[in-house]
Amino acid sequence: MKKIECFIRPEKLEMVKDALFKIGIQGMTMYEVKGHGRQRGIKLTGRTGEYMIHWINKIKLEIFINGSHEIDDILDIIMKNASTGAPGDGKIFILPVDEAIRIRTGDRGEEVI
Ligand SMILES: Nc1ncnc2c1ncn2[C@@H]1O[C@H](COP(=O)(O)OP(=O)(O)O)[C@@H](O)[C@H]1O
Ligand SMILES: [Mg+2]
Repeated sequence: MKKIECFIRPEKLEMVKDALFKIGIQGMTMYEVKGHGRQRGIKLTGRTGEYMIHWINKIKLEIFINGSHEIDDILDIIMKNASTGAPGDGKIFILPVDEAIRIRTGDRGEEVI
């Protein structure tokens, strides 16, 4: 089991979600977050000159997957549907998952996902 965490542009969320539905991904969680990457935000020009905005709205999407899903397919789909080619398109992180439990039934492991 793996956890995919990705940071994407808010306007790309629906496209990414719809494409993931198409390949059979069922559960996912999204968070409205603020963050920055290497550019440490964006520079804007106001009446009094230039200023930085360090906290930019992004969506964080969390998806737990089991062995029945090809991780590379999922990464491809996220990259295709979330990209504009400009800085700020986001990042994807992949983490190992030790265990999963469905609270209602006590089921454990891959089938929970
Ligand atoms: N090293 C990091 N740690 C935590 N969150 C990050 C990191 N890098 C990027 N993010 C998150 O991903 C979002 C998109 O990053 P992005 O600006 O595309 O990265 P970069 O400018 O480094 O290419 C950021 O707004 C932030 O929420
Ligand atoms: Mg950036």
